[in-house]
Amino acid sequence: MSAGQGRVFSGMQSTHSLHLGNYLGAMINWVKMQETHECIYCIVDLHAVTVAQDPKTLQSNIREVAAAYLASGLDAKRSIIFNQSQVPQHAELAWIFNCVARMGWLNRMTQFKEKAGKNRENASVGLFAYPTLMAADILAYKATHVPVGEDQKQHLELTRDIAQKFNTDFAESIADNGLDPDYFPLPEPVITGAATRVMSLRDGTNKMSKSDPSDMSRINMTDSADEIAQKIRKARTDPEPLPDSVEGLKERAEADNLIGLYAGLAGTDKAAVLKEFGGAQFSAFKPALADIAVEVLSPIAGEIRRLTADPSEIDSILGDGAERAAAIAEATLKEVKTVMGFVASRPV
Ligand code: TRP
Repeated sequence: MSAGQGRVFSGMQSTHSLHLGNYLGAMINWVKMQETHECIYCIVDLHAVTVAQDPKTLQSNIREVAAAYLASGLDAKRSIIFNQSQVPQHAELAWIFNCVARMGWLNRMTQFKEKAGKNRENASVGLFAYPTLMAADILAYKATHVPVGEDQKQHLELTRDIAQKFNTDFAESIADNGLDPDYFPLPEPVITGAATRVMSLRDGTNKMSKSDPSDMSRINMTDSADEIAQKIRKARTDPEPLPDSVEGLKERAEADNLIGLYAGLAGTDKAAVLKEFGGAQFSAFKPALADIAVEVLSPIAGEIRRLTADPSEIDSILGDGAERAAAIAEATLKEVKTVMGFVASRPV
């Protein structure tokens, strides 16, 4: 593990298999951050059960997300990779944060309003408290940098508010115990990536999403070469040729998305892609996009298939990750409990 500047923590839910939006929007950045930071990457399975989960599906989804992490280039030796439910300190710290956070703060969370919809009375208490568990995920490791999508910025702000309130409420005890007065760091969101917002192939104004009923709207990380080529061939476009400059992509959501996908997959930016394809028809551009998508995704899909065929390898990697994660989280919880005044009477 490289010490780098600070510590990175991020997580994804194990609700479904992953798609190109997860890969370009998140995973590519996570892989890169391993070069400069000490990184902890979690499969947030406790967050997944805030909505009903079938046990068998949950189990295979956890392993599939783990396989996607590894196949995309997350290195289980250099970084810590594990599933949240195996490190009990996440849930324990979340409880403590439930007592730090205020009802008013959580009432402002837009994601809860979206996810709960009209039937708020019937949403789980866990769905409402979801952001305090996320704060616990991050702060159990005193992480300083959190790569996330735009939609998670509000949860990160809440995490900072919780960290700040804990530091202030317990300032005296923190000092009495000889701990850093900024006990919990205030973590920064890291929002990066040329194609951070990957849109649906059927509608360039909607995000590519696992919950879109049309599978043609997304490229899954396990799609075959034929499926990828077909989805790109059928992707919605407009009748104009590609523009020469990025300004020309304004008001052309689908063209913008496809150029962004190419840039993300090629590791360049939209301007560079338009330098090569400006003036071309979609009929010429789409096969090139399909080629690069297959080139990048095929080896990843192959590795995901290999890993999920025999869960023992994944399970042992996750077990090792959980042990290393727990060593850090246990130390934090011990400090937090001392600071708060809990009596430690059980012999260890
Ligand atoms: N809520 C995040 C999402 O839906 C997932 C998540 C849970 C997370 N815990 C986290 C992300 C901690 C970053 C850090 O994308």
